[in-house]
Order: sequence, then C-alpha cells, then structure tokens
Amino acid sequence: MRSSILTFCVAAAVIAGGCSRDAAPAGDTAATPDAEAAAPVTEYDSLSYAQPDQVRIEDLALELAVDFDNKQLAGSATYQLDWIDPDATQLVLDTRDLTIEKVVGERSDDKWVDLKFDLAEPDERLGSKLTIQAPQQPERIRVTYETSPEASGLQWLTPAMTEGGEQPFMFSQSQQIHARSWVPLQDTPRVRFTYTAHVTSPEDAMVLMSADNDPKAERDGDYSFKMPQAIPSYLLAIAAGDLVFEPINERSGVWAEPAMVEKAAAEFADTGKMIDATEAMYGPYRWERYDMLVLPPSFPYGGMENPRLSFITPTVIVGDGSLVSLIAHELAHSWSGNLVTFSSPKDQWLNEGITTYVENRIVESLYGKERADMEFVIARNELRETIGEMEPQAQSLAIRPDVQVKAGDTLTAVAYDKGAWFMQFLEQRFGREAFDEYLRGYFDHFAFQSIPTTTFVEYTQKNLLDKYPGKVTEAELDEWVYGTGIPDSAPETESPRMDAVDTARKAWLDAGTLPEASVTEAWTTQEWVHFLEGMPETLTTEQLAALDAAYEFTGTPNGEIAMRWYPLAVRSGYGEANDEIAAFLKKIGRRKLIMPTYEALVKTPEGLALAESTFAEARPGYHPITTGSVEAVIAEAKGEDAAPVRD
Ligand code: BES
Ligand code: ZN
Repeated sequence: MRSSILTFCVAAAVIAGGCSRDAAPAGDTAATPDAEAAAPVTEYDSLSYAQPDQVRIEDLALELAVDFDNKQLAGSATYQLDWIDPDATQLVLDTRDLTIEKVVGERSDDKWVDLKFDLAEPDERLGSKLTIQAPQQPERIRVTYETSPEASGLQWLTPAMTEGGEQPFMFSQSQQIHARSWVPLQDTPRVRFTYTAHVTSPEDAMVLMSADNDPKAERDGDYSFKMPQAIPSYLLAIAAGDLVFEPINERSGVWAEPAMVEKAAAEFADTGKMIDATEAMYGPYRWERYDMLVLPPSFPYGGMENPRLSFITPTVIVGDGSLVSLIAHELAHSWSGNLVTFSSPKDQWLNEGITTYVENRIVESLYGKERADMEFVIARNELRETIGEMEPQAQSLAIRPDVQVKAGDTLTAVAYDKGAWFMQFLEQRFGREAFDEYLRGYFDHFAFQSIPTTTFVEYTQKNLLDKYPGKVTEAELDEWVYGTGIPDSAPETESPRMDAVDTARKAWLDAGTLPEASVTEAWTTQEWVHFLEGMPETLTTEQLAALDAAYEFTGTPNGEIAMRWYPLAVRSGYGEANDEIAAFLKKIGRRKLIMPTYEALVKTPEGLALAESTFAEARPGYHPITTGSVEAVIAEAKGEDAAPVRD
C-alpha cells in the first residue's frame, strides 16, 4: 500500500514536537535517543528549561524592529513576573540562536539596573538556557536581544518567493518549541501570559500578530498589538509583508497578498458560519475576531491556530472549497488548544484529538454528515494502516504519568484520529446532547488553563461516566486513553460514497473500466483521495497513463491529490511524471504534501538523484522545518548522519 507520512512520525521522538499530520519529521530514529538522553531536562517540561514553580511570566511586552535586509528581529522583551517561590533568585528562560545584549531589572525605586546573566552552550534540541540572576525578585525584567537569520521559528522570504514578487515577507511558526528562537521565553505551555507588542518595519510592510489586528490599520511601518487573553508561548506569532485584508463578515476575514486575497476570501466564505456553528455547540468564541492569514506556499504546515489569526497554507485554496475542513480545524483550536491547552506536548492529543473531533462536527454542521463521514473514513484508514507499525508506546493517546518518556514514543495520527475517534465513541455512548453539554462544560471549566490528560480523565469520569452510569466502563475509558491499537469499542463509520469509489476502483483494476464521466464529475477531493489511496503499491505504466489521460493527475493543482499520485508514480517507475514532480516539490514547502514524494524518490538511485537535484533548487525557498525533514530523508537513504529533525 501507499507509503504513509505517519511512518516518519513513528521514528521521531515527538514527545517533543507533537508530530502533526504535517509535522512529519523524517528518519531521526538514531539521532534522537542520544539527543534526548543528553538533554539536561528539568522536572517541569522536558522541552523547556523554565522553572515555573519559582517564577512565572504574567505579561510580555515586546519592542521589535523587523529588518528584512539582515533577516533579523531586534529589540527587547519585558516580562511582568509573578515570583512564586520566595527563595527564588533566578529567572531561567529558553532561547535558541539569540544574541543577548543586555538584561535589566526594575528596582523598587523604578530605576532599571543591569542583571547578571549566563547564556549556556546550546543543546541541539532545546537551545540555550538563559539564566538571569535576580535575587531581588524584580517585578519586571527586560532582555535586549537579536534573532539569528537562521532562527528555527522564522522564515524570511525574498520578494521572488512571494506571490507578488515585489516585497519581502517573513512569518513565524512557534509550535512546538520555536518561539524561543525569536523571543526569550518560558517556552512551555504550562506558562500563560498576556502580551503587547510595538513593532516597527519598512513602511510598505504590513505587520500582523496573534493579537488584535486592525483590519483598517494604516500601513506606516509602526504597529502596536495587544493580546489581553493569556496564551502559551507556542501561540505567539508574527508575520510581515505585502498583506491586505478582505472581510468575510463582521468578525472574520482574510489577510493575504493582494493577488490572493479575493480568491482566499471566496474559498473561506463559510468561516462566519463555522464560528456560529461552533459557538452553538461549544459556547462563545472568546477571542473577539477570527481572521486568517494566507501564507506563501513555503509555509511548512497546513494550518496553525495562532489566536485571532490562524496561519493557513495556500494549498487548500483549490477553488471548490473542498479542503476547508482545515479552517474548521484551526478554528476549533480556539476552544480545544487555545482556550484549554495541553500542559505538555506529551498530551498533544488533548489539543489535536479533541480539535479533530470538533472540526468534523463543524463540517457536519455546515456540509452534512456524508462529507463529515468521508473525512473520518480517510483519516481512519490511514490510522488503521499505520498504527500497527508503531511502537506500542506511540499507539496510546496519553503516556501514563508514571511512565518515563523515552525517545521513539510519539503522538501522531494517533493524537489526531484516535483522539477524535475516542470523542466520537463517547458521543455515541452518551448521546450527542449529553456529550455536547459535557464538552461545552469542559471548555468552560478549564478556560485559559493548561492541563494534563489526567485532569481530562478525572473531569470525564465525574461529568460523564459517574453522571450517566452504565454507559461506559472505567476500563473502556482507560483503554482509549492508555491502551494500544484501536479499541474494539471504536464505532464504525459507514460511507456509501466511499463504497462507490471502492467499487469504481475495483472495476478499473479488474477490467480496465473507468467510471462514467458523469460519476467522477461529481467526485470531490475526498473521493479522489480515497480512489488513489486504495490503489495497489504499484501500477503499470499503461495503467498510470490511462489514469492520466482520463484525469490529468500529473500536474494536478490539488496538493492532496498530488501527494498521493506522485509517490504512486515514483514507485511504479512512471518517469513521465518527473518534470511535474520536480515542479511540485519546488513550488510547495508544506511538509505533509511533499514528504511522501521525497520518501518514495529516495528508494532508488535514479529517484535519489532527482530528489537531490530538486532539493538543491527548492531549498532556498523551503522553511527550516521542511529543509530539516528533507535533509533527513536524503541522508538516511545515503546512510549518512543528519542533524536531528526539529519539530
Ligand atoms: N497545531 C497544529 C500544527 C502543529 C502541531 C505544529 C504540532 C507543530 C507541532 C495545527 O493545528 C494542525 O494540526 N495542522 C494540521 C492541519 C489539520 C487540518 C490536521 C496540518 O498542518 O496538517
Ligand atoms: Zn491542529
């Protein structure tokens, strides 16, 4: 069967990054255990040096200048601190590749004085621990710093890499531990803070943040932001470039480059309805505006739920709205993730699993059950195919608190799709009404808090299992949360439309008869995806040519189709697709879409050569996260060591 992006994730120690479907790091099995073992970790969060039991950042005030020429952010971060331990004498922050110029603290007489600090040697995975001596426990501390042009959480694009081709562009991607590469922070989801920012930039650049962006802001190179709701560090975000706004309704709209904005607003026209639908199910949207920022194609993910401003890949703009479940997903994070947040990426499923369930409910509410079920079928087939190959530890939603996390344990499609399946199981056992009331209550109860899975389990026990006895046993709950594989109690999803696709594929494979054009004309992306996913490992050149003649898969503008068609073409030795494969890999930097093709290519010497030459050309346009993944796949194929993939 097809090669799956999930297999990358299994290998990676993504206790770290929370390997999302797009977050597929590749082949760092060997590198990661060492890095993990060597990492000096605190007892609080294995991915952060912060000591939030001693002191916490309550508010962050950023003062930053965007310098496109030097690919640098420079300025200061001022922290309002809550000293928790009366004996604490230090503020420990996470940093990566930052140049720290100065640290000052505010004395009780309001004067600012220099504080001693030490920036430790960098750890490959965690970056450099910044220890600030602050025995007087000042209420405010300010760090003056600069980022590196190689900051892992930023991408700097030349004008040629943008749609308009005239102005440079930059954007951040902080999840999971990249915020520290552009702001010194307690970079752990356990700490939530409010923030303000004053950002200067060239006058023709529009700057946006995960904050109160003003659709009518004047473009003058001087911008101020406020985020009055407390957020975890991974939701800190910034972007700057030739960005304009197109409203969708009074509280929602799209920011994009001028050439893209109308198309994007048309594609995402249902966003207002999505917000209304989610509010009706799960309570008020608590972040005021919900806008989307469409990034250039090098954005390494599908979407990122930066509060008030989701960052979105342009690859979902396919003209027919068939991929807007991604918007539903990022919007859903406004409840599951941004409002109620996992307290460690070990609990990634709390964010992604519940979000994937809510996403499906939004899709059902707007587009009907047929479509929602098709999306569940695609996701679950993928989970079914891959879960058995994963380490047992990686197959469970949550890692028991008493189990030490080892490298290789990971959360993957398990976090997304097993997580969503678990939610659907609860919904079916307790009934939709009771379940929705419970979930609404959960969002309300833990609003603006960061919690571990154990807290979720306690809440669920009390508010579902104990409240409605006899519907789900404790053992069943335990199996879903901590067990491996797919529980027997997992509800099946029937999809007659997907069954029809199975029949059509079989007829073609058995007898060469393609379905009537009138049938396939009505197919949506989901059906095409299913059609391709069910193909054998390889096809003959004649078969591939016949499909191409009928459906023009080679050169398709739809990335979801391309990411399935090209690996099949590569595995089958269908060289006719090579030019388009290279063009696809050069145009798009979204990891989920391109990694399966790289993975397929590196399996043969000719393919490896194509992968390498294409990567050499594409690389300047890739985000550091994508570059790391591709490098790892190529290095592994060549039996070389690669730097561990950072996610
Ligand atoms: N929060 C994730 C992206 C993420 C997760 C980045 C972990 C880094 C580490 C985002 O909400 C997400 O899940 N994006 C998906 C889209 C979705 C429709 C499944 C993606 O990018 O594929
Ligand atoms: Zn998500």
